[in-house]
Amino acid sequence: RTFIRVLGGATLFSIVAGIGSFVYVTQAERHPGIQLPYDTEKKTIVILGSGWGATSLLKTIDTAEYNVVIISPKNYFLFTPLLPSVALGTLSAKAILQPTRYVARHKARTVTVIEAEAKEVDPFNKTVTFEDDTEIKGDVSHTTIPYDYLVYAVGAEVQTFGIPGVQEKACFMKELVDAEVMQRRFKDCIESAAFPGQDAAEIDRLLHIFVVGGGPTGIEVSGEIHDFLEDDLKAWYPELAGRIRISLVEALPSVLPMFSKQLIDYTESTFKESKIDILTKTMVKEVKDRSVVLQMPDKSIQEVPCGMVVWAGGNKGRKITQDLMAKYSSIQTNRRGLTVDDHLRMAGPDGSIFAIGDCTSTSYAPTAQVASQQGAYLARVFAQMAKKESLETKLNQLQQSVDLEGCNGNCQLDGSLAYIGSDKAIADLPFANGNIASAGVATYLFWRSAYLSTLFSLRNRTLVANDWLITKDLRPDSPLIL
Ligand code: FAD
Ligand code: NAI
Repeated sequence: RTFIRVLGGATLFSIVAGIGSFVYVTQAERHPGIQLPYDTEKKTIVILGSGWGATSLLKTIDTAEYNVVIISPKNYFLFTPLLPSVALGTLSAKAILQPTRYVARHKARTVTVIEAEAKEVDPFNKTVTFEDDTEIKGDVSHTTIPYDYLVYAVGAEVQTFGIPGVQEKACFMKELVDAEVMQRRFKDCIESAAFPGQDAAEIDRLLHIFVVGGGPTGIEVSGEIHDFLEDDLKAWYPELAGRIRISLVEALPSVLPMFSKQLIDYTESTFKESKIDILTKTMVKEVKDRSVVLQMPDKSIQEVPCGMVVWAGGNKGRKITQDLMAKYSSIQTNRRGLTVDDHLRMAGPDGSIFAIGDCTSTSYAPTAQVASQQGAYLARVFAQMAKKESLETKLNQLQQSVDLEGCNGNCQLDGSLAYIGSDKAIADLPFANGNIASAGVATYLFWRSAYLSTLFSLRNRTLVANDWLITKDLRPDSPLIL
């Protein structure tokens, strides 16, 4: 009996302590302290972007040492790994967004957040010109500001290779608006197929969905569409569920070239069971209003009727990045992105521009993991630089002792993870000197917990966990999307 009492007491204590710390953390997140004002004596860092690289830097940097200005066309951070779940309604959009001003409010010194698109970087005069690109503009919507240091973290944009019809007719999976557009079109295809009197061939066309690109984005989107079909469509449109077709088109001989052979085989067999057709060595040549034109492995051309096309054909550098590279055309020659040194300084300018994430060309794949590690690394570089400046008399001594090891060869990759539908995920994880491959339902639970713990704020973690509980585990009366 005493044992039970002690156990009961301990359990009660843990619950009260848990609630207490939750309330404390929530209050601390909601009511940050008073911030230091802008300081003309301090150097100014201008950060372009509010994605993985920029947000990781903003979270980590000690703003007591610098004035920080952040410029991005989106005033929020988007947790991209869970974007396909928003498109299919497993998660609500707000669960994977974090307002940049929220992060800024928690810094020691006031951070200026500007919602605008940078149009030009002038590395010779150290200025950035930017513009309010939204529908509603004030009298001033275009200006130029100086910087001492620029952190260039604008990411990349979708590569369409100029293939006719892709830009105008396909859906994408890069930004929040893309997930919203895809959700709307998918819903429209289903409702139009359910329209009274629709003939059989038209129903089959409307319910044939093409996903282009067998990289991780295309795989995850196909998996999510399949889940929606299994979890919701069968219950809500039983007469249509058996007629949906998902075709994944990949130009290369296999999907997921960056994963091990074992995981590629596992994904292909899971897709086969899920009745997702994988068309390898097949290239999309044109996207039309009601069909897609394919070049088949034997080079013949086929036009296949379909309801919608989701384009996940990879990334390319943004125009502003190409323009910046053109200013150092003899040095910046890598078409994949900006060349940086081991300390993430852009090759060409005098060390005042740092570049991180998908806009750079390094030996790493363009992933969220790499961008966020580079952002955190850069925060440490800035801390060291501030230290060096304030200790000028000891500069030579310090330069030898505090120089950080370069980041370029030292990002610790946590491995690659991808959701493939049917409550299964695949993972290629670094282990000892090699990699271990893992796949299945246990990997899916690992995938869930890994992403839950990576979400930046308690609010996002709670919202995502809540949506997962409702849409995946408790099966509501109506799916989020319908
Ligand atoms: P981004 O995160 O793209 O941020 C770029 C920022 O720059 C954005 O805020 C943008 O608004 C802003 N910007 C754009 N133009 C300008 C401009 N002119 N001026 C100022 N700001 C500008 N990686 C993983 O490691 N694991 C995953 O599971 C994973 N899943 C993914 C799922 C999807 C659907 C997608 C699309 C990507 C996924 N990735 C994943 C890749 C990952 O999202 C990118 O590698 C990562 O976002 C790169 O970070 P970044 O900071 O370089 O760029
Ligand atoms: P990707 O570049 O990895 O894949 C695009 C694929 O589309 C390529 O395999 C290409 O051959 C194919 N393709 C291009 N044009 C085509 C055409 N006309 N017809 C048929 N196939 C065509 O792009 P993705 O998947 O968007 O990934 C971009 C980056 O984001 C990668 O570095 C990836 O690692 C990262 N990412 C990581 C995820 C994860 O770790 N779970 C999830 C999503 C993205």
